[in-house]
Amino acid sequence: MDPTPFQPQPPLSRGEFAAELTRLREKADLTVRAVAARVGAPGAHSTIGGWFAGQNLPSIGSLPLFRRVLHVCGVTDAAEIERWLERLAELRRSRVLRVAGGASPYRGLAGFEERHADWFFGRERLRAVVVDRILSEGAGVPQLLVGASGSGKSSLLRAGVLPALRGEHGFTPLLLVPGRDPMRALASAVSVEWEARRESGDIAHEPLALAACVKSLAERDGVRVLVAVDQLEEVFTACPDPAERERFLRCLAALPPPTCA
Ligand SMILES: Nc1ncnc2c1ncn2[C@@H]1O[C@H](COP(=O)(O)OP(=O)(O)OP(=O)(O)O)[C@@H](O)[C@H]1O
Ligand SMILES: [Mg+2]
Repeated sequence: MDPTPFQPQPPLSRGEFAAELTRLREKADLTVRAVAARVGAPGAHSTIGGWFAGQNLPSIGSLPLFRRVLHVCGVTDAAEIERWLERLAELRRSRVLRVAGGASPYRGLAGFEERHADWFFGRERLRAVVVDRILSEGAGVPQLLVGASGSGKSSLLRAGVLPALRGEHGFTPLLLVPGRDPMRALASAVSVEWEARRESGDIAHEPLALAACVKSLAERDGVRVLVAVDQLEEVFTACPDPAERERFLRCLAALPPPTCA
């Protein structure tokens, strides 16, 4: 395959970037799912689909995955790949400047969310440690991220670890905060993925049945599920019902690996 060199005139918009990417994919005669399967990240098809649709740009953590996407879409020439990466970097810079013109990148007392990943700095080493831990030791063992109050745990998880696992490793993170009713929070986190893949949207609320749903997502649909519980202490501080608390913790323990960050 010999794709036409990608040289649109600046300024390049996100839509143009996505349209060029889609043109490559169509030329390679691949669906988004087929691209995701070929790059070895079937669970990342919605992330990859967002790139082709112009809904989101590949983050820094997803660059290795983006390179693989380019490759399966026929961009194999090193200089051509570099041009794509330069365009992406320009686009990301202009986006940061544009957003920064209207909104401050400083979060104040609020934590960083996944959508703030581009503004999240200074935790690269910790992010790598946590990601490695989940990838290497995570199988079968729920991982706990602990630290002093306000030290940045939620931000590290949401804007650092989850985007890296989603982008680079093809995980589908299911993020929840337990609150008063942790089983409901877990069921609603799972149901987003479940309903996207099943005709019937009903999701079980019983611990073993809910764990079976997660297992089925992993085994039947090839989704690399990662259940991430932020503010786990709420199971004790916000949930008033000890029986509900126990059901939730049993359910977490019954989830297929990797389970919990
Ligand atoms: N890398 C960072 N750079 C700058 N500010 C940060 C960074 N990480 C976190 N913060 C800021 O630190 C504060 C606490 O962050 P966060 O809520 O993530 O901490 P936490 O450990 O989860 O807190 P809690 O113990 O209350 O759950 C927030 O104001 C957040 O914006
Ligand atoms: Mg927190």
